[in-house]
Amino acid sequence: MTLPTPVLRHWKEADFAPFAQMNADPAVMRHFLSPLSREESRISFEKIRSTLEEKQWGIWVVEYAGEFAGMVGLNVSQWTLPFSPRTEILWRLHSKFWGKGIAFQAAQQTLQHGFQKLGLPEIVAFTTPPNFRSIRLMERLGFTRDAHGDFDHPAVPAGHPLRQHVLYRKRNPSAPVAG
Ligand SMILES: CC(C)(COP(=O)(O)OP(=O)(O)OC[C@H]1O[C@@H](n2cnc3c(N)ncnc32)[C@H](O)[C@@H]1OP(=O)(O)O)[C@@H](O)C(=O)NCCC(=O)NCCS
Repeated sequence: MTLPTPVLRHWKEADFAPFAQMNADPAVMRHFLSPLSREESRISFEKIRSTLEEKQWGIWVVEYAGEFAGMVGLNVSQWTLPFSPRTEILWRLHSKFWGKGIAFQAAQQTLQHGFQKLGLPEIVAFTTPPNFRSIRLMERLGFTRDAHGDFDHPAVPAGHPLRQHVLYRKRNPSAPVAG
């Protein structure tokens, strides 16, 4: 039996309910400061949707077998981080879509867009050290850890266990080798 391929697409209003439900799930948001309220999800939804419409790249809906599975995309952080200005890849799926390779396939499509269409020289990924699922996904996609790149995320209060982040990098395979 052939499994469906995840589809990356733009946002529509009907995506808001499953988007807010995903963001309110403590299991999905375990490595973030807290789950999002409906109001916080609305603000995030409008920003993600309008940025994608405006730039034609950003954070896409991941649709799987006709269902809203989550989101994946490229983002330039609003925070000044030690590796700025680099484009990061990010992902978040409803937990029922984990463990099936859906995030992996959706991320591959995203990397292809970033490297081939946008010609980005490098894409970074970062998360907290206990986020094994996210780290495994980065490694499966060919990201490598930059051991000198660990940083404290400025959005997380000092002393909070989620403040420390690890940095992974992936260079555009078509980019000329430096030096
Ligand atoms: C991070 C996240 C997207 C990873 O999802 P995931 O489903 O584990 O990732 P993948 O798509 O790579 O799937 C890998 C799993 O699918 C399995 N799999 C099945 N078919 C597969 C296929 N064709 N290709 C790859 N993996 C496949 C793998 O064996 C692996 O199984 P395992 O989890 O038992 O080891 C998900 O956990 C998530 O949304 N987390 C919450 C949000 C979050 O923390 N985001 C990151 C913030 S920085």
